Amino acid sequence: MVFSNMVTSFLVFFAVYFISTPTFPMSHRQEIAINIRNALPSNTEQPITLACDNTDSFHLKTGKDFNSSVKVNQSIECTAVWLQWFASWDAYKPQRDKGHDSVYWLVKKNGFFISWDKTKWKKVEDWGTD
Ligand SMILES: *[C@@H]1O[C@H](CO)[C@@H](O)[C@H](O)[C@H]1NC(C)=O
Ligand SMILES: *[C@@H]1O[C@H](CO)[C@@H](O)[C@H](O)[C@H]1NC(C)=O
Repeated sequence: MVFSNMVTSFLVFFAVYFISTPTFPMSHRQEIAINIRNALPSNTEQPITLACDNTDSFHLKTGKDFNSSVKVNQSIECTAVWLQWFASWDAYKPQRDKGHDSVYWLVKKNGFFISWDKTKWKKVEDWGTD
């Protein structure tokens, strides 16, 4: 009697364990790749000074790119400084980007462009000054 109760408890335990453990479809990635490219004109000598969330700032030269990754429900904000210009923008925002495996950015003279497929680009941010 005691023994069969223990067996039952074990079976219930495992059943609950497996039912409550979420399973994600393989195609749904939990880490999103973020790619930011300095797409200023090729003769631009001054690099962009970039910082994302609490990372130290670093220089991104013209034509170079920077990779990072973020968890699906996390957001990531970056700041960019170039000459007298400044911008702060959401490099990843779950409400906007969830469901995409990658988020690509082009930083151009006329602003910040987002794409999820490197084909269609949309401007979402401008450079500003104080
Ligand atoms: C960033 O990732 C892309 C795609 O994986 C790769 O082609 C590129 O070389 C990477 N850039 C850097 C700076 O690591
Ligand atoms: C992300 O958020 C959704 C909705 O709030 C939730 O169902 C899901 O479990 C979360 N995913 C992760 C990996 O935290």
